[in-house]
This record gives sequence, C-alpha cells and structure tokens, in this order.
Amino acid sequence: MNTDWLEKINAALSLEDVETLRIDIFGKKGDLTLEFAKMKDVPNEEKKAFAQHLNEQKTLLSEALESKKTILLVLALEEQLKNEKIDVTKFVASPQSGAIHPVQFTMDRIISYFQNLNFSVEDGPLVEDDFYNFEALNLPAYHPARDMQDTFYTKDGKVLRTHTSPVQIRTMLANKPPIRMIAPGAVFRKDFDITHTPMFHQVEGLVVAGEGEISFANLKYVMVEFLKHMFGDVEVRFRPSFFPFTEPSSEVDISCVFCKGEGCRVCSHTGWLEVLGCGIVDVNVFQAVGYKNVSGYAFGLGVERFAMLIHKIGDLRSLFESDIRLLGQFR
Ligand code: PHE
Repeated sequence: MNTDWLEKINAALSLEDVETLRIDIFGKKGDLTLEFAKMKDVPNEEKKAFAQHLNEQKTLLSEALESKKTILLVLALEEQLKNEKIDVTKFVASPQSGAIHPVQFTMDRIISYFQNLNFSVEDGPLVEDDFYNFEALNLPAYHPARDMQDTFYTKDGKVLRTHTSPVQIRTMLANKPPIRMIAPGAVFRKDFDITHTPMFHQVEGLVVAGEGEISFANLKYVMVEFLKHMFGDVEVRFRPSFFPFTEPSSEVDISCVFCKGEGCRVCSHTGWLEVLGCGIVDVNVFQAVGYKNVSGYAFGLGVERFAMLIHKIGDLRSLFESDIRLLGQFR
C-alpha cells in the first residue's frame, strides 16, 4: 500500500467521501483486498508477519472509517437541529381566521346554559303544520297571529313556523312527562324594519312536571338567574301580559344595558328593555297533547335581540348582511 489511507480518511468531508474510501480500501478491487491477494506469492516463512501486518492495517482502517462516519453523522445532526430550531418568541402575524357569528355565539351560550340545567335540546321542521304552529298552542282559526299579514303560508296550506313553540307540542306528543326542554331555531314572520327581519331565531323553553309541582315562582327564579347569566348585573322585572298558550303570562324586562336604567334612546327613556315572554302552560295546550294531571311553564326569546344587547349592535339587519367588517369584530 503506497497510499496514506489514514490521512485520506481524516480529510474526508462527507459521508459520501467515507463510503468512496471504504470501497477504495475494502472493495473487490480495493487496495487492502489486493494486498491480501499477494499473500499467495509471499514466501512461507514471511507469511505470518505479512498477514499480521495486513490484519493490523485492516483493523486500523476500518476503525478509522467507522469513527469518521460517527463524527460526520453527529455534525450533520447538529447542523439539522440548528436549521430546524423554532424561535417560539418570534411574532408571526396571525392568518385571517373566521369568527363565530354573534347570533350563533349567543345561541350557543343560551343552549349551554340550559344544558347545564339538564334541559334537552329539541328540534322540529321549519315548514310546519297548522296544528303544531297554531291549533295545539291554543291559537284558534280566528286568532290575529294567523293573519296573512304576519305569516308565510305555502300553497298547500302549511306555514313557515312563526315561533319555536310548535317544537314543544311535538316533544310532548313524542314523550311522557316530566319534560325539561329547549328548542332553538329559525322562525319566520312577514316583517322588515330596523327591529324586525323576516327570518330570525328563537329559543323556546318548556318544563312539565306533575300536578301542582310547577309554580310561577319556579319560572321566575330560572328566568332571573338566566338573564343575570346572559347580561350580568341587571335588574329584572315581570310585567303581566298575554300569550294564547300560557296563563298567567308575563313579559320580562331587564334594566337597560346601555344607560343602566337612566333612560336613553334605545330603551325609549323607560330604563327597561323587553327581552322575553313566558308563563304557566295553558290547560288547553296540555289538553291538545293529551296530558293530564300535569303543570308546567314555558318561555320564548329572540336570539338576535339578545345578541344585539350583548354586543351593543344598533341595527338588527346588520346581523344578516354578512358584512365582513362587522363579523371581523367578533374574532
Ligand atoms: N312563542 C312566543 C312568541 O313567539 C314566545 C313565548 C313562548 C311566550 C313561550 C311564552 C311562552 O312570541
């Protein structure tokens, strides 16, 4: 061997270099392989020393190749780690992300509040039968709420549900009491101005238990706690009102979230904002679904109205215009 292989191995800069050297030394036509081939020409008495020398060379060179390989691998790993380092303190502008629509956000909050109180969440069709939307809810044929002015009718005599109350009828017909449910969803009325849109969302609530088990006090307690959860530290007041499906009925006001009850344009200088309707379920409703010896309360609210008061949005219609500038504020 005339080449100084050790020096060459030391000078190798890459794993490929090392591999080339290995072939040059140990390959079929490698330098050392050829040396070993000379063995047969060496006189017998020198064979032993010759072989010993070659074997030493073999060990030396293969160890040198191995350790060089290890060094290069470690260096490559260090280089890789250096390049792949993540600077977690580096500021990166966040990508454009979507946002939960304020109506959905409000709806989710209302739903989860009542789910925590063990209310089930029920669903029903948007195109309803007259029976569920009106008749069973003690809204007989002559009732003004059925007016063509207020309601969308289809050609085959169905209605786009005007409230989520039909879901309470469906739920009662499909289940036995006791019942504790809410029905969130879209409803439709022929209305379009600064405080009305032809489609909006309601959450209906219904609780039914045995006779004498539900009183107005239960309803009042749940409503007051719910409204304080949604609007913070507000005053709550109950006003006598009328709904065909509840008796007695009440509309519920909170102290104005804009002026804290001082009186402003939003609350028409009354200091109060109407936020929901509720009452003790009318016996006629229980009769329509064949329930006997029960008592219950129901409530209904407009989700958009809640969203406007929570987010202080001035015009209801802006919730449906899909203006990205408005939505972007709710990210
Ligand atoms: N369904 C009524 C409405 O749409 C709201 C309501 C529901 C009132 C339940 C009382 C009880 O106006």
